[in-house]
Amino acid sequence: ADGSMDLIAWLVVLFLSIQCSVGQVNTGCLKWTQKGSNVCCDICHPGNHLVKDCGPDPRELCKPCQPGRYTVKPKEYSCVTCTQCVGAQVLIKNCTATTDTKCGCKEGLTCGNAQCSFCVEECAKGFEPTADRSCRKCPNGTFNDKVHQKCKPWRKKKKTSTKPPPIRPPTGNFSCISGQRTATPES
Ligand SMILES: *[C@@H]1O[C@H](CO)[C@@H](O)[C@H](O)[C@H]1NC(C)=O
Ligand SMILES: *[C@@H]1O[C@H](CO)[C@@H](O)[C@H](O)[C@H]1NC(C)=O
Ligand SMILES: *[C@@H]1O[C@H](CO)[C@@H](O)[C@H](O)[C@H]1NC(C)=O
Repeated sequence: ADGSMDLIAWLVVLFLSIQCSVGQVNTGCLKWTQKGSNVCCDICHPGNHLVKDCGPDPRELCKPCQPGRYTVKPKEYSCVTCTQCVGAQVLIKNCTATTDTKCGCKEGLTCGNAQCSFCVEECAKGFEPTADRSCRKCPNGTFNDKVHQKCKPWRKKKKTSTKPPPIRPPTGNFSCISGQRTATPES
């Protein structure tokens, strides 16, 4: 009997993982609390929005987001509209019930912020982005060998703010060494 239970458990896991890999969303409430003859939903299945807080059937408490909408919250009455990639933006990843659309930017442009909500001119090597979203040539004494990066000084910046190395008091008798040094003729 144990063996067959294991097999059934395995088949359930297999079935669920196949479902997930296909991108289907489980429907209904994932975690709930018993309240008399009803259950009250604490967490909907990912990609589901709350329909009503409590009811007899946990499967009826949450429903998957409509196409074109998504949610990242466990218990909200509505899903939010997926971002549309517009203008200079290009679609990188379609919206799913649990993740928003991912946009990129057209050739020659690059994302202006982490969410890529706008695009800016992509600065070539030897140039750097400016605050007004354009590019400028690397100032004298600096270079940039990467696309859309800040120019860097040619030499390693001297550390100006750090303390000078501590002067250790001499330990031992150096008089002979200093004597030797001063005695050594310059060549
Ligand atoms: C996004 O979805 C549309 C329509 O369903 C499809 O034509 C397109 O190939 C998808 N794009 C990507 C990047 O997955
Ligand atoms: C940078 O150096 C070039 C060539 O040495 C010089 O023509 C130019 O005037 C300098 N620019 C600045 C801003 O110092
Ligand atoms: C240091 O070395 C010099 C020369 O070798 C010697 O005359 C002197 O006594 C030494 N001093 C101490 C404190 O050891």
